[in-house]
Amino acid sequence: MRRTVGAIVAAFVLIGSNPAAAAEEAAAPPSMKWTFDGLFGSFDRAALRRGFQVYTEVCAACHSLRLVHYRNLTAIGFTEDQVKAIAAEVEVTDGPDAEGEMFDRPALPSDRFVSPFPNDNAARAANNGALPPDLSLVTKSRIGGPDYIYGLMIGYKDEPEGMEMAEGMAYNMFFPGHQIAMPAPLSDELVEYADGTEATVPQMAKDVTAFLVWAAEPELEERKRMGVKVVLFLLLLTGMLFAVKRAVWSNVPH
Ligand code: HEC
Repeated sequence: MRRTVGAIVAAFVLIGSNPAAAAEEAAAPPSMKWTFDGLFGSFDRAALRRGFQVYTEVCAACHSLRLVHYRNLTAIGFTEDQVKAIAAEVEVTDGPDAEGEMFDRPALPSDRFVSPFPNDNAARAANNGALPPDLSLVTKSRIGGPDYIYGLMIGYKDEPEGMEMAEGMAYNMFFPGHQIAMPAPLSDELVEYADGTEATVPQMAKDVTAFLVWAAEPELEERKRMGVKVVLFLLLLTGMLFAVKRAVWSNVPH
């Protein structure tokens, strides 16, 4: 018995001190306060528009956003004319036409966001063999969600002394394994915000993360409003049922 306990303790100590495991483990990303957190959370429309600007001017060079349509942008405060203009800036392949040929035309609000590469192989070839994932659902598909995406944006550092980096990889505090094939995408003043907000790295990281949360779940506000209504309804129903129970049982002798 004592030996079994000893062996288990030794195993834990070994696991805990395994240098490889320690190197793999990424630091926990900063815990941020988001406007969309909590029961009454909502999106900050201005932040979403800034985040869209960062996505378009920076991330869209490598990352697609295939589940979002240009027309969805009216939900974050762009007018229909602005959306038309935004869409018209990129070309999509359409067709076949009457002759059976595919052709390029400016995108329309009804189109999905145009991807930077025609297919995954082309994307890998342009990125040192690594595939920049589609960002439509990335805030939901990564542990830590928005905090992790924000951390990833601000987590680039020089590698610690003695760490061997593979060819073309960058060191990131919050990426599992620390070696990421994405070069640091943000630097101060990289974009010039239309609303005059100062474009620091943390500011752009926050804005683009909020935009990606909206892209992954545009109905978040509705879901939360519905949740509040359901809770209120259930409270009311509980009170009513309690009153009914009291009334029904009031004549029963003890
Ligand atoms: C030069 C191309 C390039 C640009 C620009 C770029 N990325 Fe990436 N990104 C990549 C590549 C390549 C990967 C895959 C990295 C890997 O798996 O090592 C990646 C991975 C990611 C991931 C997934 C990380 C994970 O946990 O798997 C996120 C999130 C991401 N990028 C967000 C962004 C955002 C937001 C921007 C814009 C601010 C951006 N990227 C700009 C190339 C790029």
